[in-house]
Amino acid sequence: IIIDAKDCYVCPGLLDMHVHLREPGYEYKEDIESGTRAAAMGGFTAVACMPNTNPVADTAAVINHIIERSARLGAVRVYPIGALTKGSLGKELTEMADLKAAGAVALSDDGQPVMDAGMMYRVMQYAGMLGLTVVSHCEDLSLAAGGSMNEGAVATMLGLKGIPNVAEEVMVARDILLAESTGCALHLAHISTAGSVRLVRQAKARGVRVTAEATPHHFSLTEEAVLGYNTNAKVNPPLRRQEDVAAVQEGLRDGTIDVIATDHAPHAYHEKDVEFPYAPNGLIGLETAVGLVFSQLVQPGILTVPKAIAKLCSNPRKILNLPGGQLIPGGVADITIIDPELSEVVDPAKLQSKSKNTPFVRWKLTGLPTLTMVAGQPVMQARRLLK
Ligand code: DOR
Ligand code: ZN
Ligand code: ZN
Repeated sequence: IIIDAKDCYVCPGLLDMHVHLREPGYEYKEDIESGTRAAAMGGFTAVACMPNTNPVADTAAVINHIIERSARLGAVRVYPIGALTKGSLGKELTEMADLKAAGAVALSDDGQPVMDAGMMYRVMQYAGMLGLTVVSHCEDLSLAAGGSMNEGAVATMLGLKGIPNVAEEVMVARDILLAESTGCALHLAHISTAGSVRLVRQAKARGVRVTAEATPHHFSLTEEAVLGYNTNAKVNPPLRRQEDVAAVQEGLRDGTIDVIATDHAPHAYHEKDVEFPYAPNGLIGLETAVGLVFSQLVQPGILTVPKAIAKLCSNPRKILNLPGGQLIPGGVADITIIDPELSEVVDPAKLQSKSKNTPFVRWKLTGLPTLTMVAGQPVMQARRLLK
């Protein structure tokens, strides 16, 4: 093969540590094959997938199933994240040691029942002993109750019930205290508010084992994306105000936020084609992430290229205790090449994901992956899938 990398960045393979592949159980939204093809188009050589499948990834059998299917059908590497609690009730802890032995790279409540403090405390004691990172979705349901977008002027204007920033922040604060008390490594998924960024910054300053991620939609969009009742901008946590977006960008810049991950959450057209309060939360992110990082963070000078790549590559691998994330002589050739000048307009018809629920339709993104190579084999080259 001939690879043209003139004026491009050659990077270790990118890893998205927060995707919903929907398999098993919700294959009409996405499956391992379509989701990993979307990842390959997006420049990711690996993804970590969340456990809110059906059945839930709460046993070694389901983890094994995901690993086997991914080895057979996946265009890129797939690392499953196990559930912290069994099933969809959230009353009983999973056999975490079994999940770890089967290959779970972390444990999470994302998309799963929210736990009370006592449950999370026991979870962290157990996961901490096993050396597994706990990935927390950080939402207080009593504060979020029934809201379908960010609380504030836009929600009032649209007549929608809102979710206040503090619904996230009380859980960020709680989980930081529990991690500090137990010594467990805590990773905060998709933080979205200025208050959350401040809490993480303070916790890191006193040495708590906490890391955090932000999504491309939370550093690129405000609550105004919901105007017109756009259900493709309905996501949990919700899109926030401009001052929150600015704080997330500053958290990325100063290192408070370690990781950029997409929370790729595919939903079928008919599910989003309902009145706003009834639409499910979530938007797809794999195929627009690199373009948004370059267009929204690198070009305006918020992140240097090495810092941006670390947040998509080595930082998530450290959190999940995975090797790689560096280009080493003799190492496995998982490589992503990014052309910082290449532009494309987002067109849902051209996306690999089964679902097309993106609020970035018609956005012109500059800075795109031009090669995704997994174990020495190109899976995407020159914006075309090879698998
Ligand atoms: O917007 C979201 N979608 N937030 C979540 O926590 C879950 C996810 C999903 O599974 O659709
Ligand atoms: Zn979540
Ligand atoms: Zn999620």
